[in-house]
Amino acid sequence: MSERFDQAAVIAAARLLEQGRLVAFPTETVYGLGADAENPAAVASIYAAKGRPQDHPVIVHVAPEAGLDHWAADVPPQARALADAFWPGPLTMILKRAPGIPDAVSGGQDTVGLRCPSHPVALALLRAFKGGRGGVAAPSANKFGHVSPTTAQHVLDEFGADGTVAMVLDGGQSQVGIESTIVDLSRLATHGPVLLRPGHISAEAIAAVIGQLPAAPDVAAPRASGTLESHYAPHTPVAMQDRALLPVTLARMAAGGRKVALIHYSDLPAAHAQVRLPATPEGFAHALYAALRTMDGSGADVILVEAPPTGGSWLGVNDRLRRAAHGSTAVVQGLLDDSSRR
Ligand code: TXA
Ligand code: MG
Repeated sequence: MSERFDQAAVIAAARLLEQGRLVAFPTETVYGLGADAENPAAVASIYAAKGRPQDHPVIVHVAPEAGLDHWAADVPPQARALADAFWPGPLTMILKRAPGIPDAVSGGQDTVGLRCPSHPVALALLRAFKGGRGGVAAPSANKFGHVSPTTAQHVLDEFGADGTVAMVLDGGQSQVGIESTIVDLSRLATHGPVLLRPGHISAEAIAAVIGQLPAAPDVAAPRASGTLESHYAPHTPVAMQDRALLPVTLARMAAGGRKVALIHYSDLPAAHAQVRLPATPEGFAHALYAALRTMDGSGADVILVEAPPTGGSWLGVNDRLRRAAHGSTAVVQGLLDDSSRR
């Protein structure tokens, strides 16, 4: 990630945000589609652009100097400790919202999601916007349910040049590559800390700071759109398979005339199209969404992903892959059955 960037473009983007326009900007996780969090009409236009349901809250991005108390009420010491440890960085905290925070950002809930990103362009934007005292509401800059963007080009591919997005700031490829870890600290007394979305900052790393391991979310009460089962999905059906099964599957699919796009990290036979990712959780996460997009455009009938290991640091990657594959199981099984019959 380059520390050098176009400061004039950042200033122009901050002015557009202040005028209520939408600006896409890079963060270290994925690109965000930003609007002034204190301008309900601007926030509403994010929902319209994404095709996202109104009751899904958005994360408010703040400058490091902004402090939590303008946005959150009853801020627990755990939240201050986590901000000290991980901000700027890929951690979002759900806190009780302060009076005066518009309903639009919190999807009508009594909480607010806050994050201070570390990407230098995001930081410069947050410092330039409203003199560093504002908040930028930003979901990932993709159409609802689609794969999050990790480059400026991905954002342009999602929204085109129809004027919905006033400006796309280019900050290169996002370093982390999957969305921020979300920890809910809004109901500590009754529920303890809850991990709503796994990411680069692990539950164990959070526990090392606050002395308590965040619990897995209550699946009966999903509160984050990222926790919907079908999410982060390409248009082509996606399935995960263990390395040991893939050579046979690839041969069967080829024999049946099916085109397979393969995302893998081990030595495997050639497919119609393929991307080999690094065999580390960080390297895999960094390149995963770009690989899904490239494979989605390869004309394949199915995207097969070599199932990654399931250990701690791989949690975020497995979570995103499981969601990308959700709903494809029957289609992929049909392709396999069909191929073995031919
Ligand atoms: O890495 C990220 O978090 C990126 C970058 C742009 O910062 N943003 C992102 O936003 O992934 P989005 O909207 O695609 O996902 C944010 C998730 C959603 O699942 C949303 O429901 C949840 O955060 N969220 C936001 N505010 C919340 C709140 N008050 N309570 C519960 N969940 C919340
Ligand atoms: Mg998203």
